[in-house]
Amino acid sequence: MEAPIIIFDLVGEDVTKTITPTKLVQMRGNIDKAVIEDNVLQLIGWAASVNAGPVESLRVSYSGKEFTDFEMAFGIKSPDVKEIFPNLECAQKSRFRIRIPLNQEEQQQIRDSLIVVTPLFKEGEGGSILYLLEPSLPLPSEDDSELMIWIGSNALATFSRTAIEFLGYFLEMAALKPTDSVLDVGCGMGRIAYTLAYYLAPTTRYEGFDIMEPLIQWAQNNIAPRFPNFNFRRVDIYNKLYNHNGTLPATEFVFPYEDESFDFVFLGSVFTHIPACEVRHYLEEIYRVLKPGGRCLCTVFLHNEESAKLIAAGKSSANLVHEIDDYFATSLDMPEMFTGFKEDLLLGWIGSSGFTVKGKYYGLWCGRTEFISYQDILILHKD
Ligand SMILES: C[S@@+](CC[C@H](N)C(=O)[O-])C[C@H]1O[C@@H](n2cnc3c(N)ncnc32)[C@H](O)[C@@H]1O
Repeated sequence: MEAPIIIFDLVGEDVTKTITPTKLVQMRGNIDKAVIEDNVLQLIGWAASVNAGPVESLRVSYSGKEFTDFEMAFGIKSPDVKEIFPNLECAQKSRFRIRIPLNQEEQQQIRDSLIVVTPLFKEGEGGSILYLLEPSLPLPSEDDSELMIWIGSNALATFSRTAIEFLGYFLEMAALKPTDSVLDVGCGMGRIAYTLAYYLAPTTRYEGFDIMEPLIQWAQNNIAPRFPNFNFRRVDIYNKLYNHNGTLPATEFVFPYEDESFDFVFLGSVFTHIPACEVRHYLEEIYRVLKPGGRCLCTVFLHNEESAKLIAAGKSSANLVHEIDDYFATSLDMPEMFTGFKEDLLLGWIGSSGFTVKGKYYGLWCGRTEFISYQDILILHKD
């Protein structure tokens, strides 16, 4: 297995905070510290909105249980937040501190649960800020670092941050519920499954497939045994970068699932490594396996006027300058290193597959200064 030169992760170096881009209030926020001391859970973090005034209250829950009786303080000075996000309202006083007394049973449960903090602003409810305190699921270690290069060059350091970041997008952009069945196309080693395992109900179905054997093996060995509702499968599809001995062309691959069997499909940095004909075929398969009302969140590199200008100016981290048929690549020898698509063409293919585009969030990848995540994100709906 020859390691690629560099694969950009789903998250860029500069995306340092959990972001909750939509819902009622546009905001950013993060939990910087969470500890249990003297039977009290302390959460320290920050939240600031784009234009909804200061935080007026906070809701805290885990595993669907909401706390009703706790101390909170907000409006605490946060010059560090102001420095990174000068345009957010009240960024200079956005920090909060929460103290929640816990009984023994709660202390046991909450360590291995997803904590959800929802800021309530003057103008409405913000998005969810998510935190895993002491997850018992193993994280990849230094021993896995060679493997992790395949899912992003800085993936070892950012594994759980990216997993939390994307679960946040699923909740805010695609209204994912704990009972929604999920298909993770090109799931890699289960990075996104990692946090989904803490969010989905124990009986909710998760299926992930990928073309690289060692990545799937990691997920099968580390996630599936603890979460029997999580199933990982390897398929021998050809991709010059990820599986050059693969026997099956992606364009002929029929997803091994029934029609209308999933509520939500995710593709994290998969359409950034395959050519247009494969994207078009996958869109049809995704449409087929989604239930009516189902949603798909996929990350992409959209070639449009703005990104083309930034690429030409040398600002982009993905130098998508080679036009091959109906897509762009950074390398002619290895087009699968990075692929991107003309925005209007891709949106046309998405429409032809039957989907409606319900969300489009531009990313940092090409050197934008206003962005949500590293890659562009699209939300597709099957009506
Ligand atoms: C950058 S990694 C992202 C992995 C994973 N989605 C994550 O976020 O951790 C891209 C993944 O796409 C997979 N891949 C490439 N071509 C594929 C295809 N035709 N079908 C499914 N997965 C594919 C690769 O094996 C690799 O695991």
